[in-house]
Amino acid sequence: MPDSGAILVTGATGNLGPHALTHLLATGRRVRALVLPGDPRADRVPAGVEVVHGDLARPETVEPALVDVDGVLLMWPFFTLRVDTVPAVLDLISEHARRIAFVSSIGVHIGLEARDNNCHSYLESMIEKTDLEWTFLQTTGFASNARGLAEQIRGDGVVRFPYGAAARSSVHEGDVAEVAARALTTPGHAGARYVTTGPETLTQAQQVAIIGEVIGRELRWEDVPASVAREQMIAQGWPPSYADGALDYFAQLVQESELVTTAVHDVLGRPPRTFREWAVENADAFR
Ligand SMILES: NC(=O)c1ccc[n+]([C@@H]2O[C@H](COP(=O)([O-])OP(=O)(O)OC[C@H]3O[C@@H](n4cnc5c(N)ncnc54)[C@H](OP(=O)(O)O)[C@@H]3O)[C@@H](O)[C@H]2O)c1
Repeated sequence: MPDSGAILVTGATGNLGPHALTHLLATGRRVRALVLPGDPRADRVPAGVEVVHGDLARPETVEPALVDVDGVLLMWPFFTLRVDTVPAVLDLISEHARRIAFVSSIGVHIGLEARDNNCHSYLESMIEKTDLEWTFLQTTGFASNARGLAEQIRGDGVVRFPYGAAARSSVHEGDVAEVAARALTTPGHAGARYVTTGPETLTQAQQVAIIGEVIGRELRWEDVPASVAREQMIAQGWPPSYADGALDYFAQLVQESELVTTAVHDVLGRPPRTFREWAVENADAFR
């Protein structure tokens, strides 16, 4: 079947989505964004992308976005959306499309998510049951997660969170997006599970220090007990099992650094971008 249809991107207005839209547009393919009705971030969708409104929580609203679609970049907003509608959404995608790339998590690769019963492992198992040509991006934490520290950084410059010594291989979300775009538009990626990471590990405290160097301010990390952060995470909308899973994982990364892979380089033919490069691009968020 020729690759003549459009590519649909869900999660189009989030951290990763706009990067994916830009990379897909550059291939010359028709690109469509699924956007929640009334989304205040709809202006993050670049010009040239067709916007179709739909809600993954109401599968019947997603079907119009799938007309004449060949490939789908699926993101499941895992904090805010339950998985009840996954089977119906995947049925619709299978009816229309041939390829799917799913933004999953390194947690599946290392067996963490099976324990916590989080959504990515479930989504992967359901996608595997379809006839779609699938590619999974089992990604480590996005560099953009550092935006969650921006308020503290802009305030007194002291980041209070547990496990400053946890060594993470955070990945530039734009790199994950580019790998996904490649998987949807070039042959050879069906059945691949790409564990996408950054080029190196940095402790959480080192990441904050780098942001400080980039914005010209001395920032400080202050470890607080995990129980304090857990309360804050739950207050911010994290389901308790996700908060526990994340905090246990950070504790583990104090003992053993997070995995670093060559997946981004293997697919894109260039090394993944560093956390410092991400911080330079996003410095204004911390000023
Ligand atoms: N962040 C990480 O470290 C990380 C690590 C591993 C995997 N992932 C996966 O990557 C995905 C993308 O991450 P991100 O940071 O780009 O996410 P994000 O910034 O939170 O963006 C989520 C996107 O989903 C949209 N959305 C929310 N509810 C929806 C619904 N019911 N129907 C349709 N769209 C809906 C949001 O629209 P609004 O703009 O209206 O909210 C937004 O565009 C995550 O969902 C997660 O599964 C992330």
